[in-house]
Amino acid sequence: MALTENAIKVLEKRYLKKDLKGKVVETPNGMFKRVAKHIAKADKLYNKNADVKKIEKEFYDMMENLEFLPNSPTLMNAGRELGQLSACFVLPVEDSMEGIFDAIKNAALIHKSGGGTGFSFSRLRPKGSTVKSTGGVASGPISFMRVFNSATEAVKQGGTRRGANMGILRVDHPDIMEFIECKKDITEITNFNISVGLTEKFMEAVEKGEDYDLVNPHTKEVTGKLNAREVFQRIIEMAWNNGEPGIIFLDRLNKFNPTPGLGEIESTNPCGEQPLLPYESCNLGSINLTKMLKKVGDKYEIDYEKLEKTVYKAVHFLDNVIDVNKYPLKKIEEMTKSTRKIGLGIMGFADMLLYLGIPYNSEEAVELADKLMKFINEKSKEKSMELAEERGVFPAYDDSIYKDKEIKIRNATTTTIAPTGTISIIGGTSSGIEPLFAVTYVRNVMDNDKLIEVHPLFEKIAKERGFYSKELMEKIAEEGSVSHIDEVPEDIKKIFVTAHDISPIWHIKMQAAFQNHVDNAVSKTVNFKHEATKEDVEEVYMLAYKLGCKGVTIYRDGSRDNQVLSTGKTN
Ligand code: CDP
Repeated sequence: MALTENAIKVLEKRYLKKDLKGKVVETPNGMFKRVAKHIAKADKLYNKNADVKKIEKEFYDMMENLEFLPNSPTLMNAGRELGQLSACFVLPVEDSMEGIFDAIKNAALIHKSGGGTGFSFSRLRPKGSTVKSTGGVASGPISFMRVFNSATEAVKQGGTRRGANMGILRVDHPDIMEFIECKKDITEITNFNISVGLTEKFMEAVEKGEDYDLVNPHTKEVTGKLNAREVFQRIIEMAWNNGEPGIIFLDRLNKFNPTPGLGEIESTNPCGEQPLLPYESCNLGSINLTKMLKKVGDKYEIDYEKLEKTVYKAVHFLDNVIDVNKYPLKKIEEMTKSTRKIGLGIMGFADMLLYLGIPYNSEEAVELADKLMKFINEKSKEKSMELAEERGVFPAYDDSIYKDKEIKIRNATTTTIAPTGTISIIGGTSSGIEPLFAVTYVRNVMDNDKLIEVHPLFEKIAKERGFYSKELMEKIAEEGSVSHIDEVPEDIKKIFVTAHDISPIWHIKMQAAFQNHVDNAVSKTVNFKHEATKEDVEEVYMLAYKLGCKGVTIYRDGSRDNQVLSTGKTN
């Protein structure tokens, strides 16, 4: 198996079994065996005579070859005591003390098991409104978010990873201005990503420059008005300032809600790619596109036959996960099993483009994204329909959009583009659909040693074309990008573009192309240069809205002190 050094380090730290002394007692192959065996078992539930060994081998092979990887909780917990396999959850926050603290408790249980939670705080009565039973005044959603945040801080996900949260507030909530500014200081509410839930009504008011109503969710009374453009500008200013809040288009999430009969979608999971109903969970998995290429002559092409087979196996795998998963709550189990949502996506898109010689910021790349995701989406539905024949449609089928279309399908959704933050390291490829962050970069290791990491394909090409030198790699690492490096040939510069070489407009066009063929949503950060203006951010927001994106997250370089990834320059 071709695991990189980084991959092995990540696996040893968090994924492989350890004994009581903390010594690693499982190999990566052992982990894939454990996972494959556990997930294949589900076939027996539907067919007593199923050839489970054969299925197990299929699952094992595609993971071992790094062609497909499920989300981290599946790799960590399958076949082990904890047994919780999903990355994404949404919990309701009811407007009562019991409701609020139930949600905190349930979130703690989910975090302990490696999952992340999304919440809408929109049902909570605004700050200062009356509390009947005590005659006191309500603290309001932002104050309670701080309590959720502290609880998360205290539960460090059982030593695996800290719980991530998404906090959403509707733009017509009376406390919206406080919410928009609640992460102005980035050291506050650190365990939350926040997003403002924008409505169609609000977006229309922005376009017309009109006021819109603020509504108390408890009394349903209109409590005031704000100018939509001013609120929109404030959101932009804050996002420009440090990336928070993001925005999501709530009505659009609901327009594509596959089971409207079960209720309204009010939140997504922490990274925004998975809209879910209250108490719903979803398991994700991603196909590594660099393993879906074939060489024809001296050129690479997408191997659509292999991709098709991998999609079929991956959908089978993800549907099985639902049945062998151990759920943190009975209600979550019931909801999840009623819609059977799965989220198949991809990783290594940027790396694949490098092999194909297509610049990320080009019409050709956007067209390819469209074609590729259309294919994956269609194939995933084909497999889900085949599973429906063998296993039945998802139980909430009668409440779904599929009933009217007379499409018998096993899963209410099949596709999602996850960030693949960790599994892309395991797979040794670029994350999700993001462009490269840097062509070469400096990695800080212990004792302040600096290590230069060079993109393997870049290193190969540089050596073949004779422009490789250690000094040059160091020079590139200073910048991250090759766009200003004279020693790199023009044709290579064009292809090896990094997130900052790519204009925000291309980021959004790419996100929209994928969104067109994804049931759920797309995890994507739109990168801006440090010098970008607020008008630049506004342009991207409006374009995202027009092109049908479900949300936007932006990040302006250097706008936070502690960037997780950084090129040499900002270190
Ligand atoms: O690569 P990996 O499977 O570890 O996860 P990802 O694709 O980066 O993130 C998928 C989802 O996992 C996120 O949207 C969150 O719901 C959840 N997650 C979390 O709860 N805590 C983290 N530290 C990272 C991810």
